[in-house]
Amino acid sequence: MQIRGAQESDKDTVLGFCKDTFSWGDYIVDVWDKWKSKGGLYVLEEDDLVVGVYHVTSLEKEAWIEGMRVHPKHRKKGLGTSMLTHAESVIQNKVIRLIIESENYPSIRLVKSVGYDIEEKWRLYTMVPQRQESSAEIVTSPSQLDHIITSSTYADSWKWLPLDKEETDHLMEQKRIIISTKSEKVLAAGIWNRSNDFPQIFQLGFVSGTKDGILDILRYVQNKAHDLNCERIQVFVQEKISLEEDFLDKKSLFYLMKKKLY
Ligand SMILES: CC(C)(COP(=O)(O)OP(=O)(O)OC[C@H]1O[C@@H](n2cnc3c(N)ncnc32)[C@H](O)[C@@H]1OP(=O)(O)O)[C@@H](O)C(=O)NCCC(=O)NCCS
Repeated sequence: MQIRGAQESDKDTVLGFCKDTFSWGDYIVDVWDKWKSKGGLYVLEEDDLVVGVYHVTSLEKEAWIEGMRVHPKHRKKGLGTSMLTHAESVIQNKVIRLIIESENYPSIRLVKSVGYDIEEKWRLYTMVPQRQESSAEIVTSPSQLDHIITSSTYADSWKWLPLDKEETDHLMEQKRIIISTKSEKVLAAGIWNRSNDFPQIFQLGFVSGTKDGILDILRYVQNKAHDLNCERIQVFVQEKISLEEDFLDKKSLFYLMKKKLY
């Protein structure tokens, strides 16, 4: 067994065993070229056959693992565990995070067995872009965000990134933080982006605040996605914030898993 950097010649084999990973298929086919050119894409070979793959992105404050797959006929032999161990040797001294759908029991068991814990539960909702009335606006002063950011991470293109003061300032400069206010009091805040991998998808990677404030932000997002001609909106919300609205389609629950390497 060896784990090595992916080559272009591995592509067909990997996409071959990643066609039907989930009931809906898989997204590896859509991201292979990007992951391959950015680096951090590894394959696992056994008896000269490529039967595993994963991607790691090493950022300043965390490493993100995604796209871990083992050929269905080669599972339960420790290969998934070997890839996670390999990732740790590549990363070193960081926080590692990854996201798993809450009913993907084999994966949850596997990452728990090598020391990952659930950091937070996130619910995915979807909604459609459309014209809406909203009084939400882009935040202009950091002081407006005091006490309203209630998470240590936010989602951007299916990566959960650390949400500290430095990141908040950076997102503010990028005009990606939306707030809803009433009589100068901030009711809610949200962070938006356009998916890196699928530009037709608009995403809200964090939202928190009062119910009215959150609804105001969701209307702002519907409008903005409509202006940008996006086809769909994905909204990621911490599970502790419960949203039951007709215009929101409630999708799966996801576990954000974390392991500290120091
Ligand atoms: C998740 C996934 C990568 C795990 O790969 P894997 O190679 O089967 O993982 P491992 O073999 O290291 O561990 C899986 C189980 O096999 C067991 N196992 C490991 N070696 C074994 C052996 N020699 N004999 C019997 N069982 C063994 C492990 O203890 C573990 O048991 P558990 O499920 O009771 O905890 C694989 O199931 C997969 O590709 N799933 C679809 C894609 C997916 O869900 N990816 C993750 C999304 S985030």
